[in-house]
Amino acid sequence: MPGAVIVGTQWGDEGKGRFTDYLAKDASLCVRYQGGHNAGHTIIVDGEVFKLQLVPSGVLYPHVTPVIGNGVVVDPAVLISELDMLSAKGVETSRLRLSGNAHLIMPYHQEIDRVTERYLGKNKLGTTKRGIGPTYADKALRVGLRVQDLLDPKIFREKLDLVLREKNGLLSKVYNRLPMDANEIAETYLNMVPRLEPHIDDTVHLVHESLEAGEWVLFEGAQATYLDLDHGTYPFVTSSNPIAGGVCTGAGVGPLAIQRVVGVVKAYTTRVGSGPFPSELLEGDPIGDDLVERGREFGTNTGRRRRPGWLDLVMLKHATRLNTCTELAITKLDVLSPLKELKVCVGYLGDDGTRYEHVPYHQSVMHKIKPIYETLPGWGTDIERAEKISDLPVEAKNYVQFIEDFTKVHVSFVSVGPSRDQLVVLPRGE
Ligand code: GDP
Ligand code: IMO
Ligand code: MG
Repeated sequence: MPGAVIVGTQWGDEGKGRFTDYLAKDASLCVRYQGGHNAGHTIIVDGEVFKLQLVPSGVLYPHVTPVIGNGVVVDPAVLISELDMLSAKGVETSRLRLSGNAHLIMPYHQEIDRVTERYLGKNKLGTTKRGIGPTYADKALRVGLRVQDLLDPKIFREKLDLVLREKNGLLSKVYNRLPMDANEIAETYLNMVPRLEPHIDDTVHLVHESLEAGEWVLFEGAQATYLDLDHGTYPFVTSSNPIAGGVCTGAGVGPLAIQRVVGVVKAYTTRVGSGPFPSELLEGDPIGDDLVERGREFGTNTGRRRRPGWLDLVMLKHATRLNTCTELAITKLDVLSPLKELKVCVGYLGDDGTRYEHVPYHQSVMHKIKPIYETLPGWGTDIERAEKISDLPVEAKNYVQFIEDFTKVHVSFVSVGPSRDQLVVLPRGE
């Protein structure tokens, strides 16, 4: 039963989308298992740029069935506009399957996301304000509306009336906002049903049919390991489980259905939003500014500047454990090309002098640790046209080897530019 997972090993935006796109060549299904339109995945094919938020990156191949699994939270208006965008670019989208069990992001979720962030002031999480947290919270509270509720207008309306009473109390009495109108929400959502209905399906069944037929099923992670609700830098995380284990609940398979786990790692680190970041290059640091500039590190989704930093191998090693990575895919190696020296974080120092070889579990420690760096030589030459490992300068090969030696996980891919073909594949043993 061959299932493969693409998972981010840092704080997101590692370049997962391009690897889903690459591996989808051999897959029959491509399944999103968590998150929502807080994700922004960029794929460049023959110079054409595709920015996807909800639809799995495998949609670009006609042989792949893209699937939005039960673990995803869906804003139906965003989904429809993404399908329209893809159709306008000539991509066939009728194959898209949408789980009836996926939860709906409602207008009050987005409003609550916005007002709670404002309320938190300087303690804000820096969310994407897409309503992700409030939607997952309602799922856990068992008052969420699901995609399947759209197919029964009476039930949809009953559930909406019930939940809106509480939400309107919260919005008007706690946050001093105007209450929302159930008629308006119901009309907007139910008007979208004719567009959505042809896509709604039993996606768990589809995934198992495909696995049993011996076909490759690709599970596309959004966000990343350190944004994971349980294993990330809580509370500066998202509200779902992006780690590979999230596939089991978010797509409905057991762990033994997963054979391959590709951990995607940017050759340096970036983070959007608030939270600890030990190897951060603080604003004003010329190397950090250069990484942002050369790597175009501005959010696909919100346009925010991503915080840059050196590669943190301690976090990466922990991520390979949390996800049981069978291999790593390194992205954006080309962005490091002009640098004379490269630092990689290989340990941490606590403020009491304790040396940490692992990611400290306690957030008070995590917030104060200082990185211990090892310095490696840069290569100082363009690598954007490299097609095979032997095309890379020795310093670049050593950088990749250092990552492999530290994590003890095979590096299968190195990308050297954003296009589909700017990719070096490394068979095991090379
Ligand atoms: P995702 O959220 O993990 O799918 O990643 P994003 O799409 O948000 O961010 C990755 C960005 O890096 C996109 O703009 C990609 O086009 C770009 N990118 C991916 N791989 C490479 C690479 O090897 N080199 C360069 N220069 N850019 C890359
Ligand atoms: P992809 O899939 C980077 C971050 C937000 C914020 C935190 C919580 O493109 O890698 P949320 O809106 O999820 O409640 O915000 O998570 N975040 C991401 N950062 N890439 C993403 O997705 C992200 N999705 C959420 O910036 O810090
Ligand atoms: Mg992204």
